[in-house]
Formats: sequence, structure tokens, C-alpha cells
Amino acid sequence: MQCHHFDAHRCRSCSLLALPHAEQVDGKLAHVRALLDPVGRPEWLPPVVGAERAFRNKAKMVVAGTVEAPTLGILARDDRGVGGRGVDLRDCPLYSDRVHAALELLAGFVTTARLTPYDVPTRRGELKHLLVTEAPSGALMVRFVLRSTESLPRLRKHLPALLEAMADVGLRAELVSANLQPDHKAVLEGDDEVVLHGETLTMTVNGIDLHLRTRSFFQTNTEVAAQLYRQARSWVDELAADAREVWDLYCGVGGFALHLAAPGRRVVGVEVSPEAILSARASADERGVDGVEFLTEDAAAWAVRQDHAADLVVVNPPRRGIGTALADWLEHSSASWVLYSSCNAETLARDLASMPSWRPVRAQLLDMFPHTPHYEVLVLLRREGPGDKMPTDG
Ligand SMILES: C[S@@+](CC[C@H](N)C(=O)[O-])C[C@H]1O[C@@H](n2cnc3c(N)ncnc32)[C@H](O)[C@@H]1O
Repeated sequence: MQCHHFDAHRCRSCSLLALPHAEQVDGKLAHVRALLDPVGRPEWLPPVVGAERAFRNKAKMVVAGTVEAPTLGILARDDRGVGGRGVDLRDCPLYSDRVHAALELLAGFVTTARLTPYDVPTRRGELKHLLVTEAPSGALMVRFVLRSTESLPRLRKHLPALLEAMADVGLRAELVSANLQPDHKAVLEGDDEVVLHGETLTMTVNGIDLHLRTRSFFQTNTEVAAQLYRQARSWVDELAADAREVWDLYCGVGGFALHLAAPGRRVVGVEVSPEAILSARASADERGVDGVEFLTEDAAAWAVRQDHAADLVVVNPPRRGIGTALADWLEHSSASWVLYSSCNAETLARDLASMPSWRPVRAQLLDMFPHTPHYEVLVLLRREGPGDKMPTDG
């Protein structure tokens, strides 16, 4: 993929961009195999490789510059490594033309609504970030990350005109909000959210409507996420009678749980974010699926309290992995299968070191984050024991 920002050294976030995409994937495969093969030499399915441009469904833009000439992108580091000057990346090739068009309008809106860009060195200004998420339908979620409520009245006043301007060019904002992030620290968003328009953004994946609220996690590459959920479903369906009860720990808005719901199978999704659980329950209700339940709980704390284990436990934790409490519990539980979806193979390997009874039997790399060293890996683990076989082993 060609990127004029990368070539001009304005942005080097895509640190692998100089390598052809296929070579990037080969390098990632070598990395993950070096970590997992010593644990159990799983059968590796061919990597899932999606589009190499316009694949990111979420743009996280730092706003800098001035009200009259805002920049939407990143902050350039000065010689001391301190962020300051804004670099405009509103045409970044990781995003679709629709997101590019939305960012153009949003840059104009900064000026119209007098949303002063936050200036990191002087700690002055109001608008810190603009976050735009695109659904497969083309609908958008737009979030303004603000230092305070100072500019909220102006944002509200000018919002109808923005929505109209978007509609004029075929863009539909399904959800708009202001997030309040008063602290002077390098975090993307704060705890308070003011919803200004709509309620959820519907992400339809493999025909399943997942309802995203403002602060819920969603896999950043919708095309690859769809393949991730399909692969999980295919492996679990193959286990059939071995997977009558399934837990989806760290379930988010229910991507795995809703793909794995099936007649005769009980599925429990557990997730710490109440708003994600609200969404997951709404999706389950709409689909009218039986035997699926979603709980707002800490995954490890919930699992260790149960008087039995599911036949198969899906875990899809944040980058830090599942940690020793859950790994220990899995090690001593009666579960037969674990399906671990990881965005950080280093913490996956560390977790597996705490689960010596478990062996990876099947694995697949999914290139969720092209042009960066990151990737997703889906691993089916079986408890090691005499005579254990895959259902297809005969
Ligand atoms: C990588 S995301 C996976 C979400 C979901 N499985 C999906 O496919 O979209 C990790 C999720 O774990 C949740 N989470 C973080 N810490 C948690 C905890 N201690 N217990 C339960 N869920 C947690 C996050 O809110 C986030 O939704």
C-alpha cells in the first residue's frame, strides 16, 4: 500500500508499510509459531488476510492546530519526544472514502462550532480527539472528546446543520456523542459521555446485528472479524456434543456468543462493561435466540465462583491476557476445550505457561492490523489426556 504521509515521514504508525503485505503476514506467522509451536504444534490453518487499505472501521484522530485551521491526525514529536504540532491525516488510506468525507466535514465543523483544538504544551483548548466508527452499512458513529462541557452548547447548536451537511453527501450519523476527558494525560477518552444523537451504531457481521454503544469495544477490522467469528463457529460446531455449554468470557457486545448460539447449546457471555452487555442482550432478544445469557461481571471473578465449568470456554481478553487467576482456574476446571482469541501472542504464551494441561490443537493467524506488527490469533486448546482426539480424528 502506498501512503504519501509515510513516504514523507509525517506518520510512521504503519511501521511495516515498507514490506509487501504478504511478507508482513509471513513475519507475523513466524512470530506466533515461535511462541505456540513449542507448546503443542497445532495444525495451522492458512492465515486470514483481508484488504490492505480502507480496512479500519475506527478513526481515532487527535485534533490540533487552530479553530480556523484544525489538523485531524497525530501529534508530531519534537526533538525531546514531546508531542506538540498537529499532523493532518484526514486522508489516511487505512480509512474508507466515507470516513475521509466525514473527517472533511468534521474539520469544517470545528471552525463553525468554534471548538478550540486542545493544545498539549499549554494545556489550553477544548477539543482533544475526534473518533469516527463506520458500520458495514455505511452508517457512522461520531464522538467528540472534550476537555470540559464549555463547548457543549455550541456543539449542540450546530449539530443539526452538521447532520444535514452529512446527509447532503450521502453520510448518515447514527450516533453522535461528546466524551469528557478533563485530565491532561495521554488517554483517548474519559468516563463521562453525553449522547447527542441516536443510541447505538449497528454493526452487522455475518448477518448478526451487533449494537455498538459509544464506549464499547469492537474489533477494528470488520472484514477480518467476520472471518474470526465464522472460524470460531465452525470449530465449535464440529465439536457438537462436546460443546453443549459454552462460556464467552470478555464477550464485549456478544460477537462470539451470538455466533455460537445454536439449538441445544447453552451460551453464557460475561463482560465487565454494562453498556456492552446491554447491547449483547438487545441483539439476543432481537434474534429471538434461546439459551443465551449475558452477565456484567469480571470474567475471572465470575468463573471461579461457578460450581461447574462449561464444556468449552471462549476467552478474548484485552492485550494483557487472561492473567493467572483465570488461567489457574481453567487449569483445574472440568472444561474440555478452550477457544482463545488473542491480540497479543506474548501474553497468550504466558497464559498458556500457567495452563500446562492444555495443548493448542488448531490455530489460525488473522491479519486484523495490517502494516503493524500486531495480529489476532485464534487457538483451539484441548485438555491433554490419554486418548483425547479431535472429532475428525476418527
Ligand atoms: C478484546 S475485547 C473482546 C470483545 C469481544 N469478545 C469481541 O469480539 O468484540 C476485550 C473485552 O474484555 C472486556 N474486559 C476487560 N476487562 C474485563 C474483565 N476483567 N472481565 C470481563 N471483561 C473484561 C472489555 O470491556 C472488552 O469488551
